[in-house]
Amino acid sequence: MNNNTFVIFGGTGDLTQRKLMPALYNLIKEGSLPKGFAVVSIGRRDLTREAYLDQIQTSIKTFSRYPFEEKIWDELKNLIYYKQMDFTNFAEYEKLKEFLDFVDIKHHTKGNHIYYLAVAPEFFDVIVDNLAKANLNAQNGKFSRVMIEKPFGRNLQSAIYLNQKIIQAFGEENTYRIDHYLGKEMLQNIMVIRFANSLFEPVWNKDYIEQVQITSSETIGIGTRGSYYENAGAIRDMVQSHLLQLLSLIAMERPKDLSPNSVRDEKVKVLQKLKPTSKAEIKKNIVRGQYKSYRSEPNVSTTSTTETFVALKLEVDTPRWKNVPFYIRTGKKLPRKAIEIIIQFKQPEKMLYDNLTSIPNMLIIKVQPQEGVFFVFNAKKPGTKNTIIPVQMDFCQNCDVGINTPEAYERLLLDAFNGDSTLFARWDEVLYSWKFIDAIIESWQDDEVNFPNYEDGTYGPIEANELLAKDGKEWINLED
Ligand code: BG6
Repeated sequence: MNNNTFVIFGGTGDLTQRKLMPALYNLIKEGSLPKGFAVVSIGRRDLTREAYLDQIQTSIKTFSRYPFEEKIWDELKNLIYYKQMDFTNFAEYEKLKEFLDFVDIKHHTKGNHIYYLAVAPEFFDVIVDNLAKANLNAQNGKFSRVMIEKPFGRNLQSAIYLNQKIIQAFGEENTYRIDHYLGKEMLQNIMVIRFANSLFEPVWNKDYIEQVQITSSETIGIGTRGSYYENAGAIRDMVQSHLLQLLSLIAMERPKDLSPNSVRDEKVKVLQKLKPTSKAEIKKNIVRGQYKSYRSEPNVSTTSTTETFVALKLEVDTPRWKNVPFYIRTGKKLPRKAIEIIIQFKQPEKMLYDNLTSIPNMLIIKVQPQEGVFFVFNAKKPGTKNTIIPVQMDFCQNCDVGINTPEAYERLLLDAFNGDSTLFARWDEVLYSWKFIDAIIESWQDDEVNFPNYEDGTYGPIEANELLAKDGKEWINLED
């Protein structure tokens, strides 16, 4: 059923090398690829198949989670073709079609195609247009699906335009909008933790929760991605997609069942209720920053005003979450690489032990590099004195950093091959997150920034700390 030719636009790019090809290698190693399968990688560069395969072999050696094995590589390389083509030129799609016919027959893919757009967003619409004009979107007795990398558009308007094109050509059911965070193990675990336990859900609300903190920090800078990042910044690159998806899983109501649409219906309701939306509130509750050495990165303007850090205080305006702050931060060149969610509970209303030091209960979900759930609570320190100490119960799925859990892309590619769209974003999720983000970007346009404003290797600008200090709170840095 899931045999297909996987057609990658952007075959020589960073994503293909670092994520897609290593994911295919790991899938073939585990015997999970469909029986009839081939890859056609499309790039502008004039490369022979051999030269292309050499590049891919190097990236698999560098980025795959399984060690390189000649036997596995031989199996995979026989499925990979390189096609040089200018994907803005319609005439070349006729030739592509002939080539795909040849590959389909040779590899028994039943004429099913999955087009993966791993190119800069400004090329999405021309590729989709040309595929449709060449009838490469046909669904008669086979499937043609399209997978789109984020960012889906640059703002609400461009996302609407792009979406219309894609839906016209492929239909919503064949459109897979990738947000690779949704493929991460612990994000899939959030719903299980909340809805498969009777312990957490009754206290998952304003009466018991004091605050939620979400941190996605990276130690790397922008590296070779300057030209993309200058047009994106942290708000589009991380918040519009990954972090709002994560937040909606934490904040959503219980879906009526686990069907993709029921889950997405609830996530969308969260995105519709996000605050701040007014200019004054945005100014008060959102802080941006830029690391010191950003302006000397390749393809970055020496006067760039692109943010590499954002901290937000958000509110989900629903009865469940009234007045509970959600603090979110993300940035490059921070001290640690980590994604962590901290749910901090309120202190008991009537404290029997008010003469002793106790800490608030915390549920900590670690997404990466460690994966696990930790619950922090108070207990009596053994001994003759009355002393309270914080203790921890933990479920550590992956305590040894680097253990071999599947990469998000492996799961997402397999799901797309199998036609399961649960872990992909539905159009209205993208729409409402852009609505929210657009208001922020617009309000920033009139403001002066004083960039760069944080040292490389620190937790962002001082204003990010002040944002919480105004509420009598601090960022919880787990290594502390
Ligand atoms: C990507 C962003 O979507 O996610 C990158 O474009 C970021 O800027 C990356 O580095 C982070 O992903 P992960 O899986 O390493 O947390």
